[in-house]
Amino acid sequence: RASPPVADHLLAWYDRHRRHLPWRAGPGETADPYRVWLSEIMLQQTTVATVGPYFRRFLERWPTVHDLAAAPSEEVMSAWAGLGYYARARNLHACARAVAGERGGVFPDTEAGLRALPGIGAYTAAAIAAIAFDRKATVVDGNVERVVARLFAVEEPMPAAKPTLRALAATLTPDRRPGDFAQAMMDLGATVCTPRRPACLSCPLSGSCDGRIAGIAEELPRKSPK
Ligand code: ADE
Repeated sequence: RASPPVADHLLAWYDRHRRHLPWRAGPGETADPYRVWLSEIMLQQTTVATVGPYFRRFLERWPTVHDLAAAPSEEVMSAWAGLGYYARARNLHACARAVAGERGGVFPDTEAGLRALPGIGAYTAAAIAAIAFDRKATVVDGNVERVVARLFAVEEPMPAAKPTLRALAATLTPDRRPGDFAQAMMDLGATVCTPRRPACLSCPLSGSCDGRIAGIAEELPRKSPK
C-alpha cells in the first residue's frame, strides 16, 4: 500500500470532521507556537474535555509567553490546580521563562531544539514541531498506535509492538500538512477508530485497513498476556 493515498484520504476527512478545539487554528491560519505548546503540555496526562476551559483561562490571563514568564509562580500553580501532575506546571513556568528570557519569546522550530526545554519530551517536541511549524515529525500517542495497529493488522502485542507501530506511522506521515496529519490521526482514534466498537463504516481509511479486512480491527492492538 502506498502511503500518500492514506494521508490524502485522512486529510480530506479532517477538513470536514476535525474537532474544533480551542488551541487549533482555523483553516489557512498559522498556529501560534505558544498556544500549541501550552495545549500540548496540558494534554500530556489530561483529556481534551478537561483541558479546554483551563486552556482558555490561561490564554486570557497570559496571552503571550512573556506574560506567562512574568507571572508569579504561585499564580501559575493555582491556575493549574485541578489539572494534576504539578511538576508539569513547574516545568511549564520554567519553559516560559527560558523562552522569554533566553530566546526573546521565540520557540525553537525543531524537535531537537524543543526537547532541550523544560517539560518537553520526545512526544511533545514532535507534536509542537509538526503542529506549530509544519515539520515532518511523527507524533505517536495511544490513539495513533491503535489506528496504525489496525490499519496494518499488527498482531504483535503491546507494549512490544511500540517500535513497529512508530515505524509504520512514520511511513504514513506526508510531506504536506504533517501537523494536520498528526491531529487527524488523533481525531480519528478518538472519534472513529475507538477502542471498543470502532465506527469502520464512517472511517475514511476503511478501504485500506488490513485489520478491518481481516475482521480483527476491534481486537487490535493486542495486549501481552499478564
Ligand atoms: N492530544 C494531544 N495533542 C492533541 C491535539 N493537538 N489535538 C487533539 N488531541 C490531542
